[in-house]
Amino acid sequence: MTINFILNGEERREALVSPTRTVLEYLRQDGGLTGTKEGCAEGDCGACSIVLVRNGSKRIEAVNSCLLTMGQLDGARVVTVEGLSDRGGELEAVQAEIVAEDGTQCGFCTPGFVMALYALRHSGETVTDEVIHDALAGNLCRCTGYRSIIAAARAATAVPSDVPGVMATAAPAAAEVYEAQSQKFISPRTLDDLIKVRGEYPEAPLLSGGTDLGLSFSKDRKVFPVTIFTQNVAELKQIVETDTSISIGAAVTYSEALERIERLYPSFATLIRRIGSRQIRNVGTFGGNIGNASPIGDTPPCLIALDTALALYGPSGVREMPLEAFFLDYRKTDLATGEVIASMTIPKLSENQLFRTYKVSKRYDQDISAVVGSFRLTIVDRIVTEARIAFGSMAAIPKRARLCEASLVGQPFNAETALRTGEMIREDFQPIDDHRATADYRLRVAANLFVRLQRDIEGADNIEVTTV
Ligand SMILES: Cc1cc2nc3c(=O)[nH]c(=O)nc-3n(C[C@H](O)[C@H](O)[C@H](O)COP(=O)(O)OP(=O)(O)OC[C@H]3O[C@@H](n4cnc5c(N)ncnc54)[C@H](O)[C@@H]3O)c2cc1C
Ligand code: FES
Ligand code: FES
Repeated sequence: MTINFILNGEERREALVSPTRTVLEYLRQDGGLTGTKEGCAEGDCGACSIVLVRNGSKRIEAVNSCLLTMGQLDGARVVTVEGLSDRGGELEAVQAEIVAEDGTQCGFCTPGFVMALYALRHSGETVTDEVIHDALAGNLCRCTGYRSIIAAARAATAVPSDVPGVMATAAPAAAEVYEAQSQKFISPRTLDDLIKVRGEYPEAPLLSGGTDLGLSFSKDRKVFPVTIFTQNVAELKQIVETDTSISIGAAVTYSEALERIERLYPSFATLIRRIGSRQIRNVGTFGGNIGNASPIGDTPPCLIALDTALALYGPSGVREMPLEAFFLDYRKTDLATGEVIASMTIPKLSENQLFRTYKVSKRYDQDISAVVGSFRLTIVDRIVTEARIAFGSMAAIPKRARLCEASLVGQPFNAETALRTGEMIREDFQPIDDHRATADYRLRVAANLFVRLQRDIEGADNIEVTTV
């Protein structure tokens, strides 16, 4: 088998490259395409941004090449900053505007900005300042100052796109196994095939978007003899909506699901827009966030509060469980040997229910949470009849605040009960001190989120921070 992809308009078939070599290394060291830069090698700076169009997809997306592996490119189209120059000496609109606006000084970050903006310019999205800020939140520049880059972004995105609606991608390799450098990269196409190879290679890592696992390749330089890639498993890429619920496959990316989440749970969508950057959300998946089982993962508290059911698939078929029962202890889950996470099903909100979630971190964008609080309340005649409240970063696992829930049920949700319920947080959680936040800070913030929720529901504009 070969890895087939289109690079800057040229077909490539790679047969010898390590499947877990990062695309960044391949571009710079094997391809001589040194316009793509390495800053952090961990998805934070955006200097390595390239554009990726997956096989059969209409989406033109910026991704971090430092966390992407070569095996993930099969069937895709890749555009690097060098790929924009084939225009008879004419600059692409984004490049021209960066020049016109003095949007570069040392220039190290510039190719990454150009590629993030190239993806935005050709995405078909309605561009506002908010969208520009969102598209650039994963790109760091130390020298220029963002004003001129934003000005260039405004001007470039006003120029109509000259890229066809669907960019041609490569024909993916027919075989499911790629072997090179004593490594196997297996890319099953069906859930049954995935389970079969999972059984054959129980120790092999499951690779979805690679925004967590990619660090093993880029930073830790691990060489796994076998890697199992889940992005081509058809069942794992499905989104199914019914009258009462939405099911999202484990390999669906945040960007792919965002529009539906926005419609059904707008507050959850706001939180998702704060997961890493666009480059991260374009490849990062729900299955990866759950499978990673980090106590600071952003989606699990939301999904637990929303009463999400998880479907695990293994040799004996499907096993369903509430997501909250999946997390057992620090990074320990109920996933049995041979099983994978197949999908999650989120009930839609009923007429009397509301859902809000808040992420508190040091920076608004591209930061790990100090606390995430997620709240689903059922309110009938101004009385809370049911409460599902979950927090992340407050314990070894994302978990419900059972005593807070009990204290709210049967009460009206007003300023007084919000304060009183917040005080119960100290009974529900004993968080730890770490470099992100002290235990006391976490407890105060979590308690204050009840006040914020209450004011939010009331529509109060002036949300002051209150301590208890
Ligand atoms: C710069 C940066 C910023 C980030 N910011 C945030 C943030 O703000 N909030 C946040 O929550 N996370 C953040 N992350 C972490 C990461 O992006 C998320 O956890 C993401 O959802 C992981 O998804 P993935 O598809 O990339 O997972 P992968 O890296 O592919 O996999 C992660 C883990 O899940 C397992 N896994 C994947 N799929 C399955 C499956 N189907 N069944 C069982 N196990 C599976 C893998 O084996 C692996 O152990 C950030 C990461 C980076 C690099
Ligand atoms: S090198 Fe910094 S995000 Fe890739
Ligand atoms: S121009 Fe120097 S880091 Fe951006």
